[in-house]
Amino acid sequence: MTLTVRPARPADADALGRMGGALMRQHHDFDSQRFMLTEDVESGYRWWLAKEMKAREAVVLVAERDGEVVGYVYGRVEERDWNALRDRCGGFHDIWVDESARGSGAGRLLAEALVRRFTELGVPRVILMTAAKNEGAQKFFARLGWRPTMVEMTRETPGSGSL
Ligand SMILES: CC(C)(COP(=O)(O)OP(=O)(O)OC[C@H]1O[C@@H](n2cnc3c(N)ncnc32)[C@H](O)[C@@H]1OP(=O)(O)O)[C@@H](O)C(=O)NCCC(=O)NCCS
Repeated sequence: MTLTVRPARPADADALGRMGGALMRQHHDFDSQRFMLTEDVESGYRWWLAKEMKAREAVVLVAERDGEVVGYVYGRVEERDWNALRDRCGGFHDIWVDESARGSGAGRLLAEALVRRFTELGVPRVILMTAAKNEGAQKFFARLGWRPTMVEMTRETPGSGSL
């Protein structure tokens, strides 16, 4: 089995839509109020990542196992944000590895490739968020050297129909 990582290409759009859609569904299942689920999950994500792929500040990479796309990672350079109290950084937004390919190092390859690309883009650190319930991902990121730095909290407003 050979695992490789390369920049995403327009021809990867269907695979990216499938994997991004799975990531969106996973998060919606964690907390259906906080994490949106659009009607067009796969085609929506396909559109979004195909657009991001062309952006200068964005990085979209895919992992291939024996020539078949089995994972992706997506991030984008974020400028200084006074609300978030953080300087320019690499924003690590998505990572997905198909279940059949997990536990073989594909996630690590993707994450390290994203960090290398961010290093080339001149950012001093890479920041990410994981869902509070996603303990597997938190262990994965900790294993790769990320430390916990923020806790997001959510409350619906009165009248939103969600209380
Ligand atoms: C998180 C995810 C990307 C990990 O991918 P993977 O290919 O299985 O990870 P790797 O095989 O590269 O593992 C790298 C290290 O993390 C550890 N790790 C990975 N998943 C883990 C888990 N669920 N619990 C504990 N440790 C884990 C591995 O044991 C390995 O450690 P090692 O170096 O000591 O062997 C994958 O499980 C996934 O796609 N999950 C669903 C999507 C998701 O939750 N994404 C994160 C939110 S954006």
